[in-house]
Amino acid sequence: TITTVPLNTGATMPQHGLGTWLSKPGEVKDAVKTALYAGYTHIDAAAVYGNEAEVGEALAEVFADEDSGIKREDVFITSKLWSQSHGSIAEALNQTLKDLQLDYLDLYLIHNPVAFQGETVFDVAELEYIPLAAKWKAMESLQDAGLTRAIGVSNFPTALIYELLSVARIPPAVVQIERHPYNVQKLHVDFVERHHIHVTNYSPLGNPGKYSGGPETKLLEHPKVLELADAHNKTAAQILIRWGIDKGATVIPKSVNPDRIKENLAVFDFQLQPHEVAELDALDVGHRYLDFTFLGVPIFT
Ligand code: A2P
Repeated sequence: TITTVPLNTGATMPQHGLGTWLSKPGEVKDAVKTALYAGYTHIDAAAVYGNEAEVGEALAEVFADEDSGIKREDVFITSKLWSQSHGSIAEALNQTLKDLQLDYLDLYLIHNPVAFQGETVFDVAELEYIPLAAKWKAMESLQDAGLTRAIGVSNFPTALIYELLSVARIPPAVVQIERHPYNVQKLHVDFVERHHIHVTNYSPLGNPGKYSGGPETKLLEHPKVLELADAHNKTAAQILIRWGIDKGATVIPKSVNPDRIKENLAVFDFQLQPHEVAELDALDVGHRYLDFTFLGVPIFT
């Protein structure tokens, strides 16, 4: 069974979910349905992925299927606020709820700290300067209104989370970051966890679908990962997913392939030993596959 963790809101979050970034609209509906029927209990979506309406169709069909026995409240659903909506947060969530065909989210995240018009095309003239305190107040109102059960942030550097904590009435419940053995982010995670904020790891497999430079050896092909896979009779992907879970995080591997969707869930019948976790930690080179330079503002330096 999928393990869960308590959030600082009192809710529980499954430590495993389906990522949907780079899942094409034509593929994501089947992927979400396959995942839910295979036993997934957590779907990670975002407005900017351009596929929330298809994710919503999948959710609606599965929840309407009485034979499935899967109800809305059995699934933890996350979405994220994109950059052009930092000044219209309530409207953005409203659109996401409409697309996902839901009354509420389990978690709504500010996707990144920078506000601008447009989706990914960056022009410095389009940068908007909206105080973090104002954005967070709007996020808190959404939780007050019951439209989302928890709020959080993604891709925020440590100092901005520090700043956020200084203005928050409701502290963030979750911080979502790129995290895998090439980017362990120990100091960041230590800070976040000491404030009782839960960490979700995205790109846990080292983002192989978008592989663009970085360490010479792909994470899924690293000899240490393969050695542990062999030792546990598991695949490299399962070792990487388990690493995050064994570190106490939530892990959201993306796949649109039915076999890999199932493979990625089959990680609750084994566990890495502490020394094996440490051996994977030792691969850390602080490499981010997603550098966010397209924001125009180097949020990580
Ligand atoms: P696909 O969707 O065709 O399965 P990450 O979550 O680190 O960003 O990785 C997602 C990428 O990894 C996608 O390209 C996905 O391709 C691929 N992937 C997902 N699961 C596995 C797996 N079990 N083994 C190998 N590659 C995988």
